[in-house]
Amino acid sequence: MKNIAIDGPAGAGKSTLAVNLARALDYRYVDTGAIYRTIAWHFSMCGIGPRDKDNIHRFLGDALIEVRYVDGAQRMLLNGRDVTDELRTPELSAFASAVSANGEVRSYLLQMQRTLARRHNCVMDGRDIGTVVLPRADLKLFVTASPEVRARRRLAELQARGQQAALGQVLTDIRARDEADSTRKIAPLRQAEDAILLDTSDMDAEGCLQAALALARERGL
Ligand code: DC
Repeated sequence: MKNIAIDGPAGAGKSTLAVNLARALDYRYVDTGAIYRTIAWHFSMCGIGPRDKDNIHRFLGDALIEVRYVDGAQRMLLNGRDVTDELRTPELSAFASAVSANGEVRSYLLQMQRTLARRHNCVMDGRDIGTVVLPRADLKLFVTASPEVRARRRLAELQARGQQAALGQVLTDIRARDEADSTRKIAPLRQAEDAILLDTSDMDAEGCLQAALALARERGL
């Protein structure tokens, strides 16, 4: 199977690029952030804090996480219930970032991500796809943009979903999450040595897609 790994910080345009690239190449898009958000949702519903290692260990096995595709869109099931529409709040973003620092959680989800990549040609996005999950991916992109640009994009996304937020707060949250995701001990956010850097600060979605498609074509994807 052919795999494209896209990593980068929150709001850099990874998922827009990954969706568009997957569509253009007829690959499957795998959003690994949604998988981390689903496990975080499980612990949040059980009242377990992100640093409560003992209870995370005890209750991890109770979370049956499934990835489904409905009309090409990824849906997340937790113990048979579709939780997709509940995963995108600022609170859960911060909680998922904290839960994702737990090593046991990361190993629990690693096989699931690798299995998805073995079954389908896919564009997978996250934080450690090029470095840990798919070190032999056919193409690795590290997508970034300035924190201000990323905060503006995140705010627009939240507003489009009818959620209220202030730009200053979104920027503070994004900076805190970047810091947590890139300084954690296990599988921190970082650019793989063989990843290509794409700074999208001054690019629109179409420009990003064309740049990525050119790189994919160079590799025969
Ligand atoms: O991509 P996202 O914002 O939906 O991800 C939510 C959190 O999940 C992110 O702050 C860190 C964590 N995550 C991770 O640690 N590794 C991944 N491959 C994807 C997400």
